Amino acid sequence: MKKVMLVFGTRPEAIKMCPLALELTKSETLKPIVCVTGQHKEMLQQVLDVFQVKPDYDLAIMKERQTITSITANVLLKLEEVLKIEQPDIVLVHGDTTTSMAAGLAAFYAKIPVGHVEAGLRTYNKYSPYPEEMNRVLTSRIADYHFAPTVNNQKALKEEAVTKNVFVTGNTVIDAFQTTIKSDYKFANDDLNQLDFSKKLILVTAHRRENLGKPLENICNALVEICKQDPDVRIIYPMHMNPAVHEIAEPILSQSNQIKITTPVDVMDMHNLMDKSFMVMTDSGGLQEEAPHLGKPVLVLRTETERPEAVAAGTVKLSGVCKDDIIHDALELLEQGEVYQLMSRAVNPYGDGHASERIRAILEENL
Ligand code: UD1
Ligand code: UDP
Repeated sequence: MKKVMLVFGTRPEAIKMCPLALELTKSETLKPIVCVTGQHKEMLQQVLDVFQVKPDYDLAIMKERQTITSITANVLLKLEEVLKIEQPDIVLVHGDTTTSMAAGLAAFYAKIPVGHVEAGLRTYNKYSPYPEEMNRVLTSRIADYHFAPTVNNQKALKEEAVTKNVFVTGNTVIDAFQTTIKSDYKFANDDLNQLDFSKKLILVTAHRRENLGKPLENICNALVEICKQDPDVRIIYPMHMNPAVHEIAEPILSQSNQIKITTPVDVMDMHNLMDKSFMVMTDSGGLQEEAPHLGKPVLVLRTETERPEAVAAGTVKLSGVCKDDIIHDALELLEQGEVYQLMSRAVNPYGDGHASERIRAILEENL
């Protein structure tokens, strides 16, 4: 049996790596080993519980208000020990977090091949998103296998002369829906059961490092104004646990009783909540892939996106971080049925729900 070590540490990586970890348990030639770095703690555990994945190793590195330097240093030091013990045949990392980049580097230092899941996303701006753009560029230099969600991602890698072992697989996040979306779903988080789904419900998430400060203030002020202008709107904002997000968002959002903030919800609740929402406003990467799958328009609260496929398909719009632009785009969707209809066409450029199977087959053939 070849040992495949999956290393991940944050909520979105877990949502996208757990389907693959489960798929690999079906293999007769590959043995998956799960090592979580614990860059996230409670928000990671919520995902592991939903998918019932039990990590073999937990590096437990999270600290309150951690810096990207401390995450990098701790992952490098602690993963070195685990790699020495397990000697895996390949290390799989995901996407663009600091866990991914540092885990890839640790594997490279141990001369262990690296597979990069969700490879080839780019904005070409090293500070947006920060530090994710640089994390994924560096991971592409290190990796030996590149699992690109789309042909566009494959093309981006080719432009950087990364042409060997590049496979277009779709995104494993679409695979995750097989576990999460249920009909007649009852939410685990009771705040969600209290929501009035007869109103136009906007699902909001925002937490990115580069938005902390004025951009997040603008976003929150825009949300309050949207509620003022449309009394029929309700907003639900499952808020990231980062205290820096709470400090900025809570005082502003508390001005409107149409806005409900809740603790992070588990991914079953999240996907089913999205399914029942009118639209999504977010600075998250993952939501830009998930909402089109469910036919929900997305306004992206960032100035750039590494996911242009959904913008081209017309289901995602880049609204930016200026208050007036956000208000304009949201009211347009709320008030103009034809704009809403165009954006809610269920076009999903991110895969067919079989990405994990493809990655497993590629690993079985190549290792
Ligand atoms: C990280 C990733 C980002 C990803 C995001 C997903 C980096 C540099 N950033 O950013 O790419 O989009 O995760 O959410 O890799 N916290 C808790 N409990 C948790 C999780 C976080 O209390 O379960 C708090 C801690 O105080 C922590 C802070 O949130 O210090 C920030 O977490 P961190 O992982 O550093 O940054 P994110 O903004 O979550
Ligand atoms: N998500 C979740 N609960 C929440 C907020 C988000 O399960 O309260 C899910 C969401 O559906 C998506 C992923 O977490 O799959 C996105 O993670 P996050 O916003 O933390 O990171 P990003 O996408 O910005 O990297």
